[in-house]
Amino acid sequence: MTRTVYVNGEYLPEHEAKISIFDRAFLMADGVYEVTSVLDGKLIDFDGHAVRLERSLKELDMPTPCSKDELLEIHRELVRINGIEEGLVYLQVTRGAPGDRDFVFPDPETTEPTLVLFTQNKPGLADSPAAKEGIKVISIEDVRWGRRDIKTVQLLYPSMGKMMAKKAGADDAWMVEDGFVTEGTSNNAYIVKGSKIITRALSNDILHGITRAAVLRFAREAQMQVEERSFTIDEAKEADEAFVTSASAFVMPVVELDSVTVGTGTPGPVAQRLREIYLEESRKAAI
Ligand code: PDD
Repeated sequence: MTRTVYVNGEYLPEHEAKISIFDRAFLMADGVYEVTSVLDGKLIDFDGHAVRLERSLKELDMPTPCSKDELLEIHRELVRINGIEEGLVYLQVTRGAPGDRDFVFPDPETTEPTLVLFTQNKPGLADSPAAKEGIKVISIEDVRWGRRDIKTVQLLYPSMGKMMAKKAGADDAWMVEDGFVTEGTSNNAYIVKGSKIITRALSNDILHGITRAAVLRFAREAQMQVEERSFTIDEAKEADEAFVTSASAFVMPVVELDSVTVGTGTPGPVAQRLREIYLEESRKAAI
């Protein structure tokens, strides 16, 4: 089945979808994005993603392409047309295509934002083998820009980080700045010490994960202790457990850090429990 995608008001077969070579995201990475997961054919945490998108657009002075209700409608329509039961919806908004290359932002009165959405079918997303085994992570220096709270499409360094991890025989990388872990290449990072879940506090240094917000809420509701503070790689190596969260990985246990076994080297009880709660509650609240 040919995938149907959405481009600026139209639902099209993917091979007919076109974006201008002058699009600001193509020339300058001047775009923001969201990834929303789909379970049982329904959207997980749609509201959170829509609110963060609005914030990213506002922070970059970028026009909003359409209302939240219209966005929801487009998400649902793409999931329906493409028959997605488990997978993702990718959304990208760019500052549009002014018809030339110029560092100055185009006038939003004459240059419309570009809005693109497509689905990725991922059967077995929730029942992932990686979640049963846990993943291996390496640490790398965080050399990204200072506004990581804005979900821009500037993903070259995170992409390089994944490649560094692959080369080292690992699955992902945690980035470190001034001695402290910021986050994973495409996820938020956590350690567990005793009964405490520790994760870096929100600031411009990390993306304010939608999964992070939900997982911390569920943890607190389940009477687990949460401490929002920075931690080092050395502290993480000594931790009882480690894990990451994101819209596509949900809660994913980390069992090795820079070739050192974390905890028992198998997914820990806190990460496993949080994954279960997250999946259960998210499925219930899915729209
Ligand atoms: N990445 N930190 C970074 C740098 C991320 O790119 C992501 C998400 C997260 C987790 O955010 P959330 O829980 O809202 O997905 C944290 C998405 C999944 C991606 O780039 O594919």
